[in-house]
Amino acid sequence: QVLETLDLHGIAKYIKSDACKNIFIMAGAGISTSAGIPDFRSPDTGLYANLARLKLPYPEAVFDITFFRNNPKPFYTLAHELAPGKFRPTLTHSFIRLLAEKNYLHTCFTQNIDTLERRAGVPADKIIEAHGSFATQHCIKCKAEYPDDEMREKIKNQELPICNKCKGYVKPDIVFFGEGLPDEFFSSLEHLRSADLLIVMGTSLTVHPFASLTEIVDESCPRLLLNLDLVGGWGSRTNDVSCLMPCDDAVRKICELLGWEEELDALWAD
Ligand code: OAD
Repeated sequence: QVLETLDLHGIAKYIKSDACKNIFIMAGAGISTSAGIPDFRSPDTGLYANLARLKLPYPEAVFDITFFRNNPKPFYTLAHELAPGKFRPTLTHSFIRLLAEKNYLHTCFTQNIDTLERRAGVPADKIIEAHGSFATQHCIKCKAEYPDDEMREKIKNQELPICNKCKGYVKPDIVFFGEGLPDEFFSSLEHLRSADLLIVMGTSLTVHPFASLTEIVDESCPRLLLNLDLVGGWGSRTNDVSCLMPCDDAVRKICELLGWEEELDALWAD
């Protein structure tokens, strides 16, 4: 066993040791809920439980490419509510930046499309936005790029963005169900084999292929789950640790144990 104890003390001690150099993060919607962005699958507060007003055949249809081709309206109703720019990064995002500043962070794989990792100051070359983001957008018919400023205006005014060239529907470069993940996601997977620590935070680990990244790290690599619920068969490996509480509280505890609390707060106040 690599960890002395299977708790945050054991993790903190391990991070301080020479053995822990490359930390990888896998993040999901739970790291942004304290910013005011709902997650997807929490029973009462999650997005999928609150989409009745959009009159969808099933909740995931709002992010389904086949559905969108015929009816992009529900997605844009949601996009108006979730538009990036309205929300501030959380303490957990600042923790990811702190890991980068201390040269521990190898890569942060995120499923989130809210771009809060970048906005918290995590270096762009350390972030893999596995499900894309709102940063760019294209026509789904002729693939032409659509201008950022026009997109922002349309989302703000609750209007449908229409391709200036072929009049097709425009979609942000978010990965919908039925679409492939970005190339950079697949090309960076091999690095996971060099992980000394994997921290999984705020995800139900239900959507593949993202969820299966937890299996790529070596058997001996400690894996830490910071989540409200126990997910992903956690505990199946000898160096699995879980901390079931809001991830902002968990990262604060870890930083306390490492003597990094002031730096964490300073980054968050930044
Ligand atoms: P989910 O909504 O499936 O899971 C969020 C997880 O975070 C749940 O296990 C919650 O209990 C937990 N959680 C919520 N708030 C938390 C907090 N403050 N601290 C710690 N944990 C918390 O979201 P994802 O796993 O990110 O895909 O969903 C994966 C993908 O499904 C999304 O990227 C999206 C969605 O369909 C696409 O849109 C393509």
